[in-house]
Amino acid sequence: TVPVIVDCDPGHDDVFGLWLAAGHPSLELLAVTTVGGNVSIEHTSRNARIALTVAGVTGVPVAAGAAGPIARALETAEWIHGENGLGGPVLPEPAMPLDPRTATELMADTLLASPDPVAIVATGPLTNVAILLRDRADVASRIREVVWMGGSTGRGNVTPYAEFNAWVDPEALALVVGSGIRFTMVGLNVTHRALVTAAVRERLGRVGTATAAFGDELLEFFCRTNAEVFGMPDGPLHDPVAVAVLVDPDAVALAHTRLDVELAGTETAGATSVDLDGMLRREPNAWVATHLDVDRFWGLLEAAIARLA
Ligand code: BDR
Ligand code: CA
Repeated sequence: TVPVIVDCDPGHDDVFGLWLAAGHPSLELLAVTTVGGNVSIEHTSRNARIALTVAGVTGVPVAAGAAGPIARALETAEWIHGENGLGGPVLPEPAMPLDPRTATELMADTLLASPDPVAIVATGPLTNVAILLRDRADVASRIREVVWMGGSTGRGNVTPYAEFNAWVDPEALALVVGSGIRFTMVGLNVTHRALVTAAVRERLGRVGTATAAFGDELLEFFCRTNAEVFGMPDGPLHDPVAVAVLVDPDAVALAHTRLDVELAGTETAGATSVDLDGMLRREPNAWVATHLDVDRFWGLLEAAIARLA
């Protein structure tokens, strides 16, 4: 099993990322950290605990991290996720308090305590991971790899060329990619294949657990807002695709390539430049997802949810 820390900004699709990490037998979820992104840090920190509470996962510490990006003001996405970040279902009280440590402290403690190197899966802006690498260089060698949902090899979803998580904190992305730690980008070019069709909703709903029922209420809201905002009635469930990279290497194909992020562009800030054709003749510095086995992916999520409450 791969030990993992999930760093997230729940967010509907983040919840499914957490469930895949908590429920799949090939991963061991050691800690969860939260970041300001889809909604404020107060909401994401509460929502992460609600996601674990619903799933019956009560032994995993959850610590709050950065309220906003390292060099910019936070931009949020209530129009997709609702005012509280988890529009749709009635939300239960979280069963556990927040861990008193900061996200940096919890990540560092977790990395140092684990006998095996730990993977960090980030499904929001990379602010917390960047701060960890900046402030705790002593634990960097304990990070097995960073897998991140964000970016795109093509077009964006918040500006024509920028994806939300990249656009919110591009400086953090640049810092993490430049760290030399193995980095995998799982961008819109693959997550836009993880579409929540009616058949997918039925498949996940049929699992029949309380977690599955709560998830279906999340998906109903998420598909509605995606239809309103993007004209995509089958909302793309981005974040669990990044977790799937660690669960099953055959689910997501990766290319070793050059990844750069636009920091200064007036129209293109946060755009990810992925040199799949090697035009720049620069050293590859990242693994970039290029293909998703859609049916295999939903099978992983279904299996994980079935093991939760
Ligand atoms: C990403 O942005 C957020 O709204 C989602 O949770 C996902 O992490 C997709 O662009
Ligand atoms: Ca997210």
